Amino acid sequence: MERLDKILANTGRWSRKEARELVRAGRVTVNGAVAVSPEEKWDPAAQFLVDGMPVSGERLVYLMLHKPAGLVSATEDPRQPTVLELLPEHLKRVGLFPAGRLDKDTEGLLLLTNDGEMAHRLLSPRRHVDKTYFVRVEGALDAADTAAFSTGMTLGDGLVCMPAGLELLEEADTAIVTLREGKYHQIKRMLASRGKPVRYLKRLTMGPLSLDPALKRGEWRPLTGEELAALRTVAGL
Ligand code: URA
Repeated sequence: MERLDKILANTGRWSRKEARELVRAGRVTVNGAVAVSPEEKWDPAAQFLVDGMPVSGERLVYLMLHKPAGLVSATEDPRQPTVLELLPEHLKRVGLFPAGRLDKDTEGLLLLTNDGEMAHRLLSPRRHVDKTYFVRVEGALDAADTAAFSTGMTLGDGLVCMPAGLELLEEADTAIVTLREGKYHQIKRMLASRGKPVRYLKRLTMGPLSLDPALKRGEWRPLTGEELAALRTVAGL
């Protein structure tokens, strides 16, 4: 059990002082009844509403992970190791999940969070949260590939893709791909349909988040306050 003002402040959305003011102004309900005092103690799993909007009292965690190849982007898997295995025990128990998937052999930026609302909003194509990837293919990429990506491709397997970016880099087999959506194996399927199968793929950015160059493969860190604020803005929270 924790004090109500602490539970609200733990969400990162209000200071302790602001949380106390919200409660005193009668703007907070717990399990359907208006809360009277910021000192009331509640289970963080109770149902909290602020101005009628649900607020999760459970501690929200946001981690940036440099995903290595060889792990699956899932919370559990019967046969294969998951990205959660990179975390210490106490962080395995707070309900973290990957916000968007990277293939087992893809590396790079992965956001792990237990904030379902945030993840849902970031992944919605409506929100225009672009993701960028470094890609290396078999063969050489050219302007015709860039043109095909930019018009929006319909693949032989029926996958309809939104317009995407393909910026050619100096080495002819490498490029930066920008996607606004994240369909299954999307980049691999788009490039395979151009006859240029992917040999290596790494996610560099997701909206305002960039993979921290100080993180080695398999390393993670909490988001900074600035990164979280920027994510909240693009998520409309
Ligand atoms: N596209 C892919 O094909 N794989 C990924 O992991 C991400 C985007």
